[in-house]
Amino acid sequence: MMKLKHLATATFCLMVAFGCSSEKSPIYKDASADIEARVNDLVNRMTLEEKILQLNQYVLGINTVENNFGEMVKDIPVEIGSLIYFNDHAEVRNAMQKKAMEESRLGIPILFGHDVIHGYRTTYPIPLALACSWNPELVRQASEVAAQEAYDCGVNWTFSPMVDVSRDPRWGRVMECFGEDPYTNAVFCEAVVKGYQGDDMSEKNRIAACLKHYVGYGASEAGRDYVPTEISDQTLWDTYLPPFEAGVKAGAATLMSAFHTISGIPASANHYILTEVLKEKWQHDGFVVSDWGAVEQLRYQGMAEDEKEATMLAFNAGIEMDMADRMYQKYLATLLEEGKVDMKLVDESVRRVLRVKFRLGLFEQPYVEEKPESEMYLLPKSLEIAEKAAAESMVLLKNENSVLPLEDVGTIAVIGPVASDSTQHLGNWGARARAEDVVGIVQGMCEEYAGKSKILTAKGCDFEGEDKSGFAEAVRVAKASDVVVVCLGHKGSWSGENQSRSTIEIPKIQEELLSAVEATGKPVVVLVTTGRPVELPRIEKKADAILQTWHSGVRAGKAIAGLLSGRYNPSGKLAMTFPYSTGQIPVYYNRRHRARTGDQGLYKDITSEPMYPFAHGLSYSTFEYGKLTVSADKLKEGETISAEVTVKNASQRDGLETVHWFVKDPYSHITRPVKELKYFEKKLIKAGENVTFRFEINSLRDLGFVNREGKKYLDKGEYRIMVGDQSVSIYVI
Ligand code: GLC
Repeated sequence: MMKLKHLATATFCLMVAFGCSSEKSPIYKDASADIEARVNDLVNRMTLEEKILQLNQYVLGINTVENNFGEMVKDIPVEIGSLIYFNDHAEVRNAMQKKAMEESRLGIPILFGHDVIHGYRTTYPIPLALACSWNPELVRQASEVAAQEAYDCGVNWTFSPMVDVSRDPRWGRVMECFGEDPYTNAVFCEAVVKGYQGDDMSEKNRIAACLKHYVGYGASEAGRDYVPTEISDQTLWDTYLPPFEAGVKAGAATLMSAFHTISGIPASANHYILTEVLKEKWQHDGFVVSDWGAVEQLRYQGMAEDEKEATMLAFNAGIEMDMADRMYQKYLATLLEEGKVDMKLVDESVRRVLRVKFRLGLFEQPYVEEKPESEMYLLPKSLEIAEKAAAESMVLLKNENSVLPLEDVGTIAVIGPVASDSTQHLGNWGARARAEDVVGIVQGMCEEYAGKSKILTAKGCDFEGEDKSGFAEAVRVAKASDVVVVCLGHKGSWSGENQSRSTIEIPKIQEELLSAVEATGKPVVVLVTTGRPVELPRIEKKADAILQTWHSGVRAGKAIAGLLSGRYNPSGKLAMTFPYSTGQIPVYYNRRHRARTGDQGLYKDITSEPMYPFAHGLSYSTFEYGKLTVSADKLKEGETISAEVTVKNASQRDGLETVHWFVKDPYSHITRPVKELKYFEKKLIKAGENVTFRFEINSLRDLGFVNREGKKYLDKGEYRIMVGDQSVSIYVI
């Protein structure tokens, strides 16, 4: 390293001496110059050591991500490329940036990153819940709120959106994705990227997005974390890559490589996905950061004999920046000397990092204005969006005899471990979330029903354990009420990274509390607050109504109370199947066909049908679907036809309805799923009115499929367009 450094410095001095560059106004400092010219000018000025440090990310502040070891890094080099920033205040960040800008030779700003997954301080619903809103525009707005708060605190880059298609709710990270369907994840990926980055990342309140975890992490075996996946090239292309391709097309600045192996090749040493697909086929010109320690972990995965080999494999595969384990800083120079990595690739990697920094405008605006918290966080408009997102993400799973909405009720009992526990609504990956910001269920109900109904409450039991000492009080409160709302669920920390569970049950003690309360004979409304689909058959038998509330953030209680009172009409629909039992997993809507029909191949001890299927969700309105029609039943490749369905709101209550458009290709040389979501639209339908929904079907885009090389093709023959229980055949000729 020292030899190379002296050589580079000497070269640089000669360049300056012969006027190869003007010290007065180097191009890279000229904001009016073309970004590529600035990138190239700067790279040519950098020493090897400066280049290598640009490819490293350290941690600044206490790392609150429990799965990675917290550390206060004091010896941060001023030439460091990026820092994961764990702090509430811009001052710390600006002080570090000032060191970089003023104490380093070239004044390259640091890129500050953070996990802003579902809000920064104004926490809104977890992504799995947001997907159930089927409202990408609302999710874009929520992402804009997150970007504004993160930006105001000095964060320029978030490690989000996570778009790992997931079909195993035993995996704790299902909370972070947009469900089991590739198209759903792709649509919301684009919305989140647009919300974070806008059309110009250099604008105020814009932050760089990071698509993760590239790719196929959701296929983790048996729902365990960090474990291998077995993904065929066909499934890689037709299931796991599409959301990332959509994010790249939406302009996502960065991606994060994943921890797991993909059929034997670790994602973080996988040249095929990191370079051949991402850089060559998709032409992505930003950069890839490894997941935390994913470079050095190649040793544990049986891929690298030692740290140096791990560094070589990850770097040559196409990871530009190394998160937290400092492998690149330790070994890249040596690997260069040994000819095991190429200086051209180092320069290209540095260019990619600098390009994102220039696009963010960091050279012109390296510091963030230090504002009072009241001007940064929990702004009225932000809270409105958070409440709307919560209300539209919650899913009414059951409503027997229209027990909901609760109107003209004298006394309502709110019982259960979640009733007064506001922390759990924050969910995991809460960035800078604080429990004191949350309106919980009891508070929400008291505010909603002030002057209308009396609210009684009892905890009943803890989230888990054997202690039933609170049951008697809960039963007493239930007996003293007209309706009982039972608030069950999981702690926010029970989903997220490294939170795999062998069962998706709600702990027995909570089911027993429900049984005790249900025995009073009062109408029972169950609220399910979890970060994953859970096992509900036993709960369903004891509930007149069930509302899946997810972990829905700072205004969860307001949204829940608004839905129970009818101020909001439920409009959420499931983006991930609720299995009948853990034993059914994996169970998801877009599976391929089985070889037998009837009951052959089905379980002999339980049903093979899920408890609640993909796209299930009830409303207080009654929506009647008219006849599905198509503008033509034949089309050629490159042509478009339209499908239409008119939906009537036959109730007295305005409601939002989402129409899901599915496509089925009954016969293909690569067999297709039983049906595939290809479009959805959510619209308000006023009481008594009709609204027509239209799906403009583009033959290759909507009917075509992709093969194991990623090539899209279109078979001739029959396709079926499906809405609700209707299906119409069209033919590609
Ligand atoms: C974690 C996660 C990743 C996160 C990163 C930084 O281990 O896998 O999603 O962005 O580290 O916290």
